Amino acid sequence: MDFNFSQMEAADRYRLLTNFVGPRPIALVSTRSVEGQNNAAPMSFFNVFSHDPAIVVLGIQTRPDGEEKDTLRNIRKTGEFAVNMVDMALAGGMLVCGLGVEPDIDEIALAGFDSIPGTQIAAHWVAQAPCAMECRVERLIDYNRRVIVLGEVVHMHVRRDCLDAEGHYVDPAVYQPIARLHADNYITSDRQFEMPSPGLASVQGRLAKKEA
Ligand SMILES: Cc1cc2nc3c(=O)[nH]c(=O)nc-3n(C[C@H](O)[C@H](O)[C@H](O)COP(=O)(O)O)c2cc1C
Repeated sequence: MDFNFSQMEAADRYRLLTNFVGPRPIALVSTRSVEGQNNAAPMSFFNVFSHDPAIVVLGIQTRPDGEEKDTLRNIRKTGEFAVNMVDMALAGGMLVCGLGVEPDIDEIALAGFDSIPGTQIAAHWVAQAPCAMECRVERLIDYNRRVIVLGEVVHMHVRRDCLDAEGHYVDPAVYQPIARLHADNYITSDRQFEMPSPGLASVQGRLAKKEA
């Protein structure tokens, strides 16, 4: 089947894109209003795109009525947010944070998580998260119904048991983030496998045989 995106409804493009571009990692984004109210919401339009500078990207949609989500409102006003990575232990609470409750409710607490004030930003991060990144807005790109947020990671908190003894690499038996597929379908990273590169020399050898 072929789909001409320029002739499709936005909702149909959303369906196809989210059905096929996955699994997408989940950022549980915690923010703090200027009045000091904690907020948290999961975002699977999320990834890291640069390390120098360290840039993560979020895609935040408006609500169906066109209103901005609390997360975006806080990000616009404070210029700060934290990304908390999500594993199975946080999965249920992550869904609670996605329920869209009133802005005066602390979703981190509602989800049963503890919050810790940021080291470099005012927004709090989730104490139970295997990894949390404190971010400052690098730039916002406003589209019709979605805002792309580029955030510079200024500080990272990592749960000690997620790293090897030297503190360099993740322990894949411990750090197993979940990711979103389509709709309510998710995947966890408990079936990791190593796939070393075959090396350029072996591929060149194959080409040479074909040419002979
Ligand atoms: C797994 C998951 C991923 C989500 N990803 C996004 C996303 O990338 N962008 C977005 O705008 N909303 C996303 N949502 C919906 C928001 O989390 C939801 O609208 C939330 O209530 C917004 O809360 P807020 O008003 O406190 O910001 C996602 C929800 C779930 C459960």
